[in-house]
Formats: sequence, C-alpha cells, structure tokens
Amino acid sequence: MNETVPFFSGAASARRDRPALEARIRQVAASGRFTSGPVTAELEQAIARRTGARHAVAVANGTDALVILLRAAGVGPGDEVIVPAYTFFATASSVLHVGAEPVLVDVLPGSYAMDPRRAEEAITERTKAIMPVHLFSQMADMEVLKDLADRHGLLLLEDSAEGIDMRAGGVHAGLWGSGGVLSFFPTKTLGSLGDAGMLLTDDDRIAARARRLRQHGQDTDGDYLHHEIGYNSRCDELQSAFLLHRLERLSEEIERRAELAALYDRLLAPLAPAVATPWLAPAKTPGNQVYYVYLIECDCRDELVAYLDAHGVGTETYYPRPLTEQPLLAPLPGSRHPVPVAEAAARRAVALPLYPDLTDRQAERVARLVHAFHGVAS
Ligand SMILES: Cc1ncc(COP(=O)(O)O)c(C=O)c1O
Repeated sequence: MNETVPFFSGAASARRDRPALEARIRQVAASGRFTSGPVTAELEQAIARRTGARHAVAVANGTDALVILLRAAGVGPGDEVIVPAYTFFATASSVLHVGAEPVLVDVLPGSYAMDPRRAEEAITERTKAIMPVHLFSQMADMEVLKDLADRHGLLLLEDSAEGIDMRAGGVHAGLWGSGGVLSFFPTKTLGSLGDAGMLLTDDDRIAARARRLRQHGQDTDGDYLHHEIGYNSRCDELQSAFLLHRLERLSEEIERRAELAALYDRLLAPLAPAVATPWLAPAKTPGNQVYYVYLIECDCRDELVAYLDAHGVGTETYYPRPLTEQPLLAPLPGSRHPVPVAEAAARRAVALPLYPDLTDRQAERVARLVHAFHGVAS
C-alpha cells in the first residue's frame, strides 16, 4: 500500500521535540503571564538579531502586521499603494483596511514578484508606497524596486510574510525600505502552533507607533490611556515559546528544505519544458533562496492536482486567481492594469509537498507520480 503524502505535516518533529516543547509550555503555564510577556520579548530580540532588524514587533498574525505597518508608516485614506496582482489576499486587503487603495500590477515570470516596469507605469500623484511581496522561494528584485521608490519619493514597504531568512545583498527581507512583516502561520518556514506575526523595521518612529497600535493605542500596556484607535493584536506567550523552540532548528530545517528542493529539481528535470521547476535567482543576489514553497508550473495543472489527490498526495494551488479577479477587488479602479503573467501563473502553478518532515522517499513518490501523469516513466 502506497503511503499518502500530505501537503504539510509537522507531526514527526512534534513527536521528536515533545519533551522540550512540553517543558516550554509548562514554563509559560506556571508563569501566569500569557500574552505580550517576557517570552514574547525574548522572541522579538531573537528575530531582531537573526534578521538584523533594529526593531521586531510581535503581533497576533502576519495580516495584522501588514495593517499595522501600513498605518505606522502613515498610509491612509486617499493614498494608493502599488502591490503585485499575484499574492495572498492579505497583501491587498491590508491596504483597504487602512482606508487606502491597492493598485494591482503584474509580476515577473520566475520570481512571481512585482514587475518594476509595471509598477513604475502605475505611479500616480496619489501613490504613497510600493509594497512588493517575496513569494515561495525567491525575493523580489529589491535593488531595482528600491531605486524606483527612491526616484519617485515613495515609501518602500515589503510583504515579507514568507521571507524569514531570505536576504538580498546581505539585507533581510522586510528591511530594504521602511519595514516589512513576518507570518508565523503553521505552514510557514518558521511556523507557530497557531497564529502569530511580526513587524520588522529599522525606523524608530514606525516601531513605536506599531507598539502602540498593537495594544489598543496605549503607550503603556495596562495604563488604559488610549492615544488612538488601535487593535487587539497581542502575541501569545505560548506561541512565542514554541517559536523560540523552532528557531533553534530553523537553519537545519531550511537546509533540509533546500535538499528536498534539489531532489525535486533533479527528478523533475527530465519533464522540462512540460513541467517548469522553480526559477533560480541570478548570481548577483546570493542567499535569497529559501524554499518556503516548491512551486511548479504545467499546462494541465488542475488535472495534475486531481491525479495526485487520487493517489494520496496533497498539493496547494497558490494562488488560483490573480487579485484582479477577486470579487471584492475586481470592481476597483486599481484592478484595471493588465496582468497576463499573474493570470498564467494562476492557471499553471501548483505547490508540491515540501517541509522538513518530508522524507526523500515521499518526495520521490511525488516526483514519480508527476512523471506518471505526464506519461513518462522515471
Ligand atoms: C504573502 C503573504 N502575505 C500575508 C500573509 C498573511 O499572514 P497571516 O496568515 O499570518 O495573517 C501570508 C500568509 O498567510 C502570506 O503568505
């Protein structure tokens, strides 16, 4: 009987790490401090050290981090923010949350990141910021995008929710401009037990305002003096404890992800050009390849997904439609730019299982099935 291969599982690591995890959980339970306490402060310091950020501000999830970042950076009603059309909904919904308008532009094939030329064409007198996204296994071309933002006097913000440990030119994702975010959703490269997120910035004022916004506009938690309308976006001590534990293995896990990606690359190479494996960054940007997701493209994507599912292999269709086709966004003026690359990716792309617990045997089985689907024996 062939074993199933779930799209994501952390069960084996959880079993292996159980004693260490239980000890951390007992510690938090005994402390009596369950949110925004010393463990979260320790996590913020650890992430700041790892990323090189001057400030790391823990919040409840990556979406909140985006909303708070935009508000803390001064984006609001009347402003336009240029974002890529191929990304998770939160990239654009966060812009709407702060009362600004997302302007959706096409992406580049390969990196799936904001196309700088399309972004430049979309600039108007109302453009306040550009917010590129780093998706799957690759950073956007930050040198070019930073130059674009600087030339037009725009804020550069990054949806780096997927970008832990991704660097370009030695600069961590999220720190090329005024700030970025991290999501610790369980499937992320650094995933928590539920939801958690973080804002990264080198800007003291943005950090101070973010700290205020995450706790209902108070400068001091618990003084009940609310300076502005903020959010309840606390990070739980339990999540922070779990994340500190996961951080200890992060480098090792990123290496394992890379090994699995190399294995898929090798096994799927004979299927080119019918199956496109992830594009590799040019040599000028070493270090920006962290495989959060292993995304392939093929013509019969939906049929492949159904075939793999019938054989017990989980996949995820990131993202099944460009944001310009989201019912809430389609009617907006910001959805009028043509996005053919995003449309093609939405039709063709699918993510294969890739996580530290995945065994070589499981990856080989997935690759064999992709071969079988394409009618080629491996
Ligand atoms: C590109 C991108 N932006 C934003 C988010 C939102 O993060 P969260 O799910 O932690 O709210 C995610 C993750 O889900 C993401 O992948």
